[in-house]
Amino acid sequence: MSYCVRVMTQDDIPAVSKLDRQIFPDMQMPTNFESELTNCMAHYLVAFECGLAELKSSWMGSIIGYAGLWIMVSEAHIVNIAVDCNYRRRGLGELLLIASIELALDMNCNMMTLEVRASNVTAQRLYQKYGFTSRGIRKGYYNDNREDGSIMTVDNINSKTFKDAYKKLKVDYQKKRGAAEIILTAPF
Ligand SMILES: CC(C)(COP(=O)(O)OP(=O)(O)OC[C@H]1O[C@@H](n2cnc3c(N)ncnc32)[C@H](O)[C@@H]1OP(=O)(O)O)[C@@H](O)C(=O)NCCC(=O)NCCS
Repeated sequence: MSYCVRVMTQDDIPAVSKLDRQIFPDMQMPTNFESELTNCMAHYLVAFECGLAELKSSWMGSIIGYAGLWIMVSEAHIVNIAVDCNYRRRGLGELLLIASIELALDMNCNMMTLEVRASNVTAQRLYQKYGFTSRGIRKGYYNDNREDGSIMTVDNINSKTFKDAYKKLKVDYQKKRGAAEIILTAPF
């Protein structure tokens, strides 16, 4: 089996909402994907498993991860990247990050940024792998437990330095994880 990432549609909302609740059971205000999908700044992607034979045509499958970005002029803010607990450590979070970077490049962004819980070392490692560095702390950023948010940023995704490193990471990903498809255009 291989993985595909594509743009999220209205039809995906029930499955993504269910997944979101599974991944973030303690979230006081679950993500309102209905309203996110009508927000012109918001861009959501979903990941699913597909057979190699379906790679070029597949639009369907059980959703096992998602990513959300807000694109504001030249800045792409990663709202979330989340992977089904049963599918972790298989390269899916990394694929969703690659797809998010592709989207940011397609949308002519220059900078990518996000907040991540100070205790979430796993996610921080993922972002660090792709050149994000810590730029400061938002004190008590998370409402549920007043945990600090670490701000992570990569400044110039159009620079030769970033693009060379990114190209190598994508080659390494494909060698390690095999073929994967990213579809960034909406189906209709
Ligand atoms: C963070 C998350 C998306 C990672 O997804 P994943 O599919 O398990 O990650 P991948 O298998 O693609 O790993 C990619 C990289 O992430 C880092 N990573 C992932 N899991 C890790 C772990 N348990 N410990 C340390 N680093 C880890 C590594 O750098 C890894 O690269 P490597 O394979 O070269 O070591 C996933 O753990 C998740 O959904 N967590 C809950 C939601 C969340 O916290 N999202 C982040 C919000 S900002």
